[in-house]
Amino acid sequence: MPAAATIRVGVNGYGVIGKRVATAVTRQDDMALVGVSEVVTDWRARMAVRNGFRLFGATSDAASAMRGAGLWVSGTLDDLLGQIDLVVDCTPKQIAARNVGLYRRQGLKFILQGGESHEATGHSFVAEANYASALGREATRVVSCNTTSVVRTLTALKRAGLLRRARGTLLRRATDPWESHATGIMNTLVPEPEIPSHQGPDAQTVDPELDVVTMAVKVPETLAHLHYWAVQMTRKAGEDEVREAFRRSSRIALIRIGDGLVALNAVKELMADRGRPHNNLYEVALWGDMLRVRDDEVFYAYMVDNQAIVIPETIDAIRALTGIVKDANESIARTNAALGLEAALI
Ligand SMILES: NC(=O)c1ccc[n+]([C@@H]2O[C@H](COP(=O)([O-])OP(=O)(O)OC[C@H]3O[C@@H](n4cnc5c(N)ncnc54)[C@H](O)[C@@H]3O)[C@@H](O)[C@H]2O)c1
Repeated sequence: MPAAATIRVGVNGYGVIGKRVATAVTRQDDMALVGVSEVVTDWRARMAVRNGFRLFGATSDAASAMRGAGLWVSGTLDDLLGQIDLVVDCTPKQIAARNVGLYRRQGLKFILQGGESHEATGHSFVAEANYASALGREATRVVSCNTTSVVRTLTALKRAGLLRRARGTLLRRATDPWESHATGIMNTLVPEPEIPSHQGPDAQTVDPELDVVTMAVKVPETLAHLHYWAVQMTRKAGEDEVREAFRRSSRIALIRIGDGLVALNAVKELMADRGRPHNNLYEVALWGDMLRVRDDEVFYAYMVDNQAIVIPETIDAIRALTGIVKDANESIARTNAALGLEAALI
């Protein structure tokens, strides 16, 4: 890849998603991470420097505080924005939307994450579903972890001509592991007050044709989400045919209870054994041997690593917005190879 074709990327917000995006960018041969921007001065910012990333203060006050804490600071967010082609905003929900004006004034392309609304960019992204419609755009939103999984799996069924309508129940992790001293729930289950929960309508921002209803409940664990789905197909189909439809997506991995992968913790341990950064499970891990068909209905369950699933999508969104790769399959294949996604997890 000639140097002229290298996309210069900045990451604003080096938290759960930002640090994973930053690492993933460094693994691509057509992009370079120019730096990361933060407001904190503690171990999180220190790790960015230790990882060899240039650190910028999101404000001049933040930059001063970082210097005061002994951190090597390369400037402010404004300085970072002046050196890049595209910014991935990974700041907390609703902060990112406030940065949109700043990015526009700098003439930058930008990516927001799933905590923001569809309206904040006017485009919502899942690589296998709508890469082409993001080509050359100013901005997109990589949809949330749950929504990404919904669109990936339903797109696989749709492409096989099997999807009529889908109804899913989502068991949502209570908080992220590193924050579990501060927030989360214990010894209870908390239903989302609205049916449908927001993930179904959110999936329709990517593909308005999806007939999908979701219900959700927060559960007292931090590992990952677990989804149960009942899908009415367009016709009767065998279990092997449905499994084959899922297998055709490179971002759905069929796992087996029969291999001992009987729970979320076992799958996370497998990712640790695979040596993936942060034990990331980028794929939707769908239990192939649990899947059942009755007439024209299929029933299945899968695991969503909320901290990791949106990382490959974000890398593809960078290529789509900049137009450096025009073909979705080419970008997906490059991202998969760089991050180590494989058809089989074991
Ligand atoms: N955590 C998940 O599982 C998950 C999954 C998918 C999508 N998302 C979405 O990704 C986005 C980021 O979520 P997260 O979980 O990584 O949050 P996070 O709180 O882990 O990280 C956000 C980081 O941004 C920093 N920050 C705060 N204000 C800032 C500012 N003004 N400028 C620069 N940095 C600032 C914080 O210090 C923190 O390190 C949200 O839209 C969220 O909805 C999160």
